[in-house]
Formats: sequence, C-alpha cells, structure tokens
Amino acid sequence: MSDNEIRLNEPQKIANGIYWVGKRSEKELEVNVYLRVFEGNGHKINMLIDPGPTTDVDIISDKIEKVLGPDFKIHFAFINHQDPDVAMNAVYFQRHFPSMQIITTEDTWRLIRFFGLNPQRFIAVEKYKSRRISLKTGHKLVFIPTPYCHFRGACAIYDETEQVLFSGDLFGGLSEKPDLYAGEDYWNGMKIFHQIYMPANLALHNAVNAIQKVNPNPKMIVPQHGSIIKDALIANFMEKIKNLKVGLDITSNNSLLVESHLNTANEILKNVKYKINETIVNEVFDAFKSDGSFPEIIIFNKDNQIIGFNITLNDAFQMLIDKLIVGRENTEKRQIRHIILDALAKWNLPAEQFSIEADENTDEMTNLESSQIFEANEGTTQGKEIERLNIKKLLDYFIEQGGGA
Ligand SMILES: [Fe+2]
Ligand SMILES: [Fe+2]
Repeated sequence: MSDNEIRLNEPQKIANGIYWVGKRSEKELEVNVYLRVFEGNGHKINMLIDPGPTTDVDIISDKIEKVLGPDFKIHFAFINHQDPDVAMNAVYFQRHFPSMQIITTEDTWRLIRFFGLNPQRFIAVEKYKSRRISLKTGHKLVFIPTPYCHFRGACAIYDETEQVLFSGDLFGGLSEKPDLYAGEDYWNGMKIFHQIYMPANLALHNAVNAIQKVNPNPKMIVPQHGSIIKDALIANFMEKIKNLKVGLDITSNNSLLVESHLNTANEILKNVKYKINETIVNEVFDAFKSDGSFPEIIIFNKDNQIIGFNITLNDAFQMLIDKLIVGRENTEKRQIRHIILDALAKWNLPAEQFSIEADENTDEMTNLESSQIFEANEGTTQGKEIERLNIKKLLDYFIEQGGGA
C-alpha cells in the first residue's frame, strides 16, 4: 500500500472546515463525499455534500466520526442530483439524524424521495429566489443550477467563504491514480467521463458560463468523481470543458464514418493477430475491459471484434493505436505501424490525424514503404512501458488530439 493510499484512509482537510470523507476503491470511477463544518456566532452546523453510495457508507461514517468525534450530528445534506452514487446515503444519515434536512432542486427531490426520505425535511433550492443562503454561523452558500450536467435538475453549490465549488458530476473524471488533487493529466479521464455522461456541449457551455460569473472566483472545484481541481487548472479545464464535444455531439457522428473506423480497427486487429501475434490482440482486448465502475470506451464482442465506440472516433482510435504500439520492441512496433497505416489507407481514413509512434531507429524505418508516405508524430508516447491491463493504466498513454476537444 503506497503512502498516498494510507493517507486516503483518513479524512482529508481540503480547506477551512471542508473535509474529503470519501473512499478510494482503485476503480476507474472513484466516488467523492465531502463534509462541511460551519462554525461561528456560537453555532456549529455540519453539512454533507453528496453523501454517496450505500456500498461506501461504513468508510464515510468512520471518516466523519474522525473529524467530528463520536457524538456527531449531521444537520443537512446537499444533493446535486438523484443518482444512487450521489444520494443514496442520505437515507442512512436521515435514519440516524431524523431532523437532517435535504437541500436539493425540486427535480432531484421528485426522484430521491423514492429512496424513502422524509418529505417534511426537504428544502427546495428554488425556494431561494436569489439562489443564496446565509447560515447562522455567518457563512454564505450560493446555488448554481447546472441543467443537464448531467441531469436536468443538477445543481452545484458554492461555498463563498472558502471559494470552493462542489460541482457534482461536472468536472468529475476517471482516475489514473488514487491522488486527491488533479494534475494536468486529469484532463484525460475528465474528457472521457464527460464524453460519455454529459448529454451535449450546450449543457456544459451554459454551466461553465454560469460558474465563470461567480464572484469571487472559485479557488477549488471539488467534483463527485475523480480529483479536486485547484489554481490555474481551474481556468484551463473550464475552457476545455466549454469546447468539449460530448454525448449527442458525438453519437450524431456520421454513421458511414463510424463504419469506416470499425472496419479499419477490426482489420488492424485481424492483421496483427495473423501476421504478428495473437497475444497482442488479447492484451488490447483486456486493456479495454471495463472494471464495472464505468462503461466500456471501446466495445468488443466475445470474439474480440470491435463493435462500437463510446467516445469520439478520433480519441478511441488513438487509444487503440497507443495500446497496440507503445512499449513494443522495435521490429514488432514497425510491423504494427505498417499494418495500421495500410488499414487507414484502405478505408480512406487520414493517417495524419493520429499520432503513430515513430521507430527509434529511423534508418530502419526508411525501408518501409508507408513511412516514406506518412510522417510519424514523434515524442508523444515514446519509451513508455506497456504492462497495463486496465483503462486506468491505459489513460497514461492517451494522447490528446487537436480536433476533438
Ligand atoms: Fe450522476
Ligand atoms: Fe456521479
């Protein structure tokens, strides 16, 4: 167990009075839960933000107890939207603390009430026309509705005092590492998560616009999945999210184009299997298998044939290329590269939109017909080891393409 994992067995103070009390499960999609402790004017008020799924309840309760002591009480829970990974534990905490209030939108309430929550303890966000509330402790909270990110009634909550935005699924992402704080590489997992879970760019665009109007600006964005975003990465990721094609933007892809990509990908796999080595194809198949916390990014049937893509064609194809090539020894690498370039040419897909790793020995490369035609894009994934068998590891090799996002 790494130092980092040991550390994450404890609650983490992320700002004054704000604690991460979630669980790290080593899944692709990690679930975060936050506790906000407001103190002031002789009052102490404890709020849970997105209290999480039943499966994590013991760990979450333990961490809360470590922060608040054994006789703790939760006064209210804020719920971004109705999904079980977000809201289910509200029932558990309300059973222990029957006076615990639930603050959420009317749209979300209409669904989470079926979990068995007490309707007498529901406070609608819509009740506050200004979308702002002041607590007896002197703290201020602002509700920022983020419609269709990813539910129509989704709503973020902004802690104005600490300048921390609890954003729900928005800014969530798959985790390459168990780390609590995002680095620049968090974008890879965030991009895939949004492409699959968010319905359309318009929803993201509107939500980010609303967040950008908040004054003072957030110093920290704490999503319900993945990593916490701080400092310069906030502006950087907001711009990227604003321009990201997701959901319907992607599935409305020209069906002929989808078909050419499927044909090309399967031809590549077939040729690698018969001309080089079946093990490579099996490795690719394993690498794209979901661990169950997230949908498959590239969908295979039981015969290892690709039958669909859940992210943009370019991104999916680039991941496939990387998995096939990166870390192979030079001869294999050259053969695979040759097969890829031939298949792309056959199905009339432009090779220049993909980064196909160059061979380290350029002299040998000149013997290859394809290499004389296509320029290799150097320096992106070269020299990395290939011992990954899941998407978490695969993300290390994901190369961003200019066009998609
Ligand atoms: Fe959700
Ligand atoms: Fe979620």
